[in-house]
Amino acid sequence: MNLHIIILAAGKGLRMVSELPKVLHKLAGKPLLQHVIETAKRLNPNKIHVVYGNGGTLLPEQFSQYDVEWIHQPEQLGTADAVRHALPSIPDIAKVLILYGDVPLISVATLEELVDASQEGLCLLMSEVDDPTGLGRIIRDAKDEVIGIVEEKDATLEQREINEIYSGILSTTANQLKKWLPKIEKQNQQKEFYLTDVVRLAVKDKLPILDFCPYYAWEIMGINNRSELAVAERIFQINQAEQLMKKGVTFFDPERFDLRGELDVGQDVTIDVNVIIEGKVKIGSGCTIEAGSIIRNAEIGDHVHIKAFSHLEDVKIENECQIGPFARLRPGTELATGARIGNFVEVKNTKLGVNSKANHLTYLGDATIGDHVNIGAGTITCNYDGINKHTTIIGDYAFIGSNTELVAPLTIGPYATIGAGSTITKDAPPHQLTLTRGVQKSIEGWKRPDKKVSDKKVSHL
Ligand code: UD1
Ligand code: CA
Repeated sequence: MNLHIIILAAGKGLRMVSELPKVLHKLAGKPLLQHVIETAKRLNPNKIHVVYGNGGTLLPEQFSQYDVEWIHQPEQLGTADAVRHALPSIPDIAKVLILYGDVPLISVATLEELVDASQEGLCLLMSEVDDPTGLGRIIRDAKDEVIGIVEEKDATLEQREINEIYSGILSTTANQLKKWLPKIEKQNQQKEFYLTDVVRLAVKDKLPILDFCPYYAWEIMGINNRSELAVAERIFQINQAEQLMKKGVTFFDPERFDLRGELDVGQDVTIDVNVIIEGKVKIGSGCTIEAGSIIRNAEIGDHVHIKAFSHLEDVKIENECQIGPFARLRPGTELATGARIGNFVEVKNTKLGVNSKANHLTYLGDATIGDHVNIGAGTITCNYDGINKHTTIIGDYAFIGSNTELVAPLTIGPYATIGAGSTITKDAPPHQLTLTRGVQKSIEGWKRPDKKVSDKKVSHL
């Protein structure tokens, strides 16, 4: 099938009250228009044409990685005018599907059905809604055939009672559109060229008009303001949670989960409330993610336990690791099997070996740490001299005592022990105890200072 998809996205979206064009506002971390373009792509069209206008070149710039044709509509004279600009680059024999950049929840399944059905006639996607305010109403004749769409501003009081509405999405042939569009005039309240006038013209041409409903009513929801955006976000999120539950994920509350990206997940993963997953994340089987954790771009193995309020970004975690609560794993963190990171530990660009642990109040930056290493509480790798970053290397089975500063560049040998409270500035040899602490002494006869008594009386007046 020769299919061309036109996405209308030139409008400003005044009701968003924003500097940003409406279709660049995000749903689940992705601009509205990106959702529509990606859905359109999944229909395998010959070409996608995006009509843009408001926001200048912002749209083509932001979506430069997509293979779409950008059609500039200089003035927003209405939906028919927008389509008219796209038509010259579409062959007559093509089937055309019209989508809106601000209707992001539309599904591939619904669109496939709509496109397959429209042979010669006009296929309209419509739905019955509780509150039709602001939308085009479907007009039917005595035989219940669709004969027109009337915009709310042009509707009579009686027509406004109709709660069957037009979604804005239609499918027909390029040939028909090319015949109809020049006939559309702007004799209406808004002085706009209405694409919905094609219904009247199709009736005149005695062409069949097919009406279709989406699989789910919410698919055709248009986003006009931030309140609708928030509603759409929740619908999108609960749908994602449903998909994940089918793959064997347990949510303590699927309504308190946010996925802004892609999650590839094994079975028997348990996710507590208010977990946020962003970017590209892989979580293996049998993992537990406790409440309030944020995970962005991560590869996590099996049976990993991420305790509450941990923050992970650009990390690689192997099987059986334990993280948190209150841990911060920054980009370049790699934990080998069984490693543990405890509370108030920050790790950056650091590899921690098999079964090694840093359980309390520690900063590990630019370090390579071997297997079975114990990093005591309050250890700091001093990796930054104010200008350059330096590396710390710690061998297998080393033991770093609490409250140690490791001033990089530095190597701690395998099986080395560092005495607590040391500031280590030179390499420490393997198997030995290294410490920099002063010798402990006690001063006999030492007295605590007395409280000073002032000569003057202190006045509070
Ligand atoms: C349109 C339909 C209405 C339908 C509703 C569904 C018309 C005349 N009316 O009304 O029947 O119920 O959608 O949401 O079509 N756009 C352009 N260029 C323009 C005008 C609009 O690209 O000159 C784009 C907008 O960016 C938007 C879409 O077309 O993505 C719809 O435009 P909008 O003005 O929101 O149409 P509605 O009044 O909502
Ligand atoms: Ca609209």
